[in-house]
Amino acid sequence: MLAQRVCVSDFEDEAQRVLPKAVYDYYRSGADQQDTLADNVAAFSRWCLRPRVLRDVSTVDMRVSVLGHTLSMPVCVSATAMQRMAHPDGETATARACKAVGTGMMLSSWATSTIEEVMSATTASPGGAGVLWLQLYIYKDRAVTLSLVWRAEEAGYTAIFVTVDTPYLGRRLADVRNRFKLPPHLSMPNFSSSALTFSEGNYGDDSGLAVYVSRSIDPSICWDDIDWLKKHTRLPVILKGILNGEDAVQAVQCGVDGILVSNHGARQLDGVPATLDVLEEVVEAVQGHCDVFMDGGIRRGTDVLKALALGAKAVFVGRPVLWGLACQGKEGVVEILELLKEELRLAMALSGNTSSRVCYCL
Ligand SMILES: Cc1cc2nc3c(=O)[nH]c(=O)nc-3n(C[C@H](O)[C@H](O)[C@H](O)COP(=O)(O)O)c2cc1C
Repeated sequence: MLAQRVCVSDFEDEAQRVLPKAVYDYYRSGADQQDTLADNVAAFSRWCLRPRVLRDVSTVDMRVSVLGHTLSMPVCVSATAMQRMAHPDGETATARACKAVGTGMMLSSWATSTIEEVMSATTASPGGAGVLWLQLYIYKDRAVTLSLVWRAEEAGYTAIFVTVDTPYLGRRLADVRNRFKLPPHLSMPNFSSSALTFSEGNYGDDSGLAVYVSRSIDPSICWDDIDWLKKHTRLPVILKGILNGEDAVQAVQCGVDGILVSNHGARQLDGVPATLDVLEEVVEAVQGHCDVFMDGGIRRGTDVLKALALGAKAVFVGRPVLWGLACQGKEGVVEILELLKEELRLAMALSGNTSSRVCYCL
């Protein structure tokens, strides 16, 4: 009989047992010597909670409004690529789980299911479409880039998260050693040309994904490209990968609709600060002009509470969802999201907070 899963690391342990090594390595790894990977998690332990008492916490309201949607909790799902390596249902299972729990999902440009398939997976059940956002990489080929955006608009996605921290892929040593590639039965079907589906081709002795990025993603993008994108979509544009106040101010000047403080799960530049450590700086720089979100290292409800107390409107989780998916498909993702929700509810109650506009905490 399988051991009961009571915290995120129980899911990770089980996922490690069931996933092929190269897949687990790809999901787990950070860049280089992985200092930031460890620090993203450790940063949460550097803050202590300061509970208030006698505040009637018999009801706790975790609902939050994110990009025009009321979500059941301030925990959303970040983009993680190639989810069919974790489970045959991949991104469609994650989308159904998010809808069941009442939260939003950011779909990776590098999904192993199409934009339309993922939306259809949510509309197949009663209750209307799920809350889906597209994560966008800006390709050298701007027509390819815009086709993703327009397909997302057409399919009913309601925001674009542009990843701005990946002009090249960070050096993830396990992927280099494993010469990481997609298993032969999978591809990135949002693209039509075989050069972009990452399903075939010669990637040499390197991480296949690093070679793919250097061939296809535009390392020359700059602020003008954000203006360009905004002119070509009616959807809100959020920058994913901001790590300091200066860039946050520039993002606001550029008219973005939100900022996601992220170091890409510590997979790009090693040695950057933990995201929690820069959250306050970004929130102060933005001065309320747009919503600020964060991701990186969230593994329990108290982590969510601390991020909210430091000014995040909501947080996003990456790896925990992959562990849930690997353990038990859609049900595993529901389980992990419900676990984080219940942990947050308890942390809010025990700290004297009854609304996700957390006040009394640090
Ligand atoms: C396996 C994996 C794949 C990822 N793929 C993408 C991606 O395609 N696009 C992107 O912008 N970020 C990607 N990320 C970064 C996540 O969106 C997110 O920033 C990060 O996972 C948050 O940290 P956490 O895993 O500690 O929660 C990926 C992260 C992981 C772990």
